[in-house]
Amino acid sequence: MPAIIRLAVPQDAQRLPAIEASAAQAFRMIEALSWLAESPPMSVERHRQLIALSTCWVALDAENRPQGFLSAERDCSDLHIHELSVMQSMQGQGIGRRLIEAAKDYARSNRLSFVTLTTFKHVPWNAPFYARVGFQAKAAIDLDQRLAAILSEECKHGFAPGSRCAMAWPVT
Ligand SMILES: CC(C)(COP(=O)(O)OP(=O)(O)OC[C@H]1O[C@@H](n2cnc3c(N)ncnc32)[C@H](O)[C@@H]1OP(=O)(O)O)[C@@H](O)C(=O)NCCC(=O)NCCS
Repeated sequence: MPAIIRLAVPQDAQRLPAIEASAAQAFRMIEALSWLAESPPMSVERHRQLIALSTCWVALDAENRPQGFLSAERDCSDLHIHELSVMQSMQGQGIGRRLIEAAKDYARSNRLSFVTLTTFKHVPWNAPFYARVGFQAKAAIDLDQRLAAILSEECKHGFAPGSRCAMAWPVT
């Protein structure tokens, strides 16, 4: 049965860090990034804040338990995706694509300009996947101040310079 996607509610916040931690186990397949599997996930408190903005969606299994989430936040006329995670045991079943569709639907309904994110350029389920669902990588020269600042902050947190890119989906 396909997962049901709905807006997250405050009661979901408690479960989301465990989903992110499980999703991150995928990075064990890449030696240089395996440390991400041990990194602390986004806090429950931060999830509560994003849920309160009504820009966080969860994917539910048949028992109505969240198995994936997409957390985002509006910035002027853009919707920025902070995190997209699907439980490792549920990956590859189309849940990630459906969560992205929910974010795109929101951007369309609210007449926004872009859905944006930052991600790894060469991880198969990161930039190549986002490109398949319509996101375009932005060249360094085309970055606005907001996206440039996010990439710069990520470098300070240990991501290798040049390993990340910003991507944008023009709302259609
Ligand atoms: C990225 C992620 C959210 C995608 O969710 P998902 O439910 O697995 O995605 P889908 O089933 O909709 O598949 C999306 C695509 O990713 C590919 N994919 C998923 N897991 C993959 C893996 N481990 N290796 C290679 N490709 C993978 C699928 O084959 C699919 O490709 P397609 O475009 O040819 O159909 C999920 O893999 C995940 O949580 N990964 C770890 C956390 C992460 O990297 N998040 C993104 C941060 S920017």
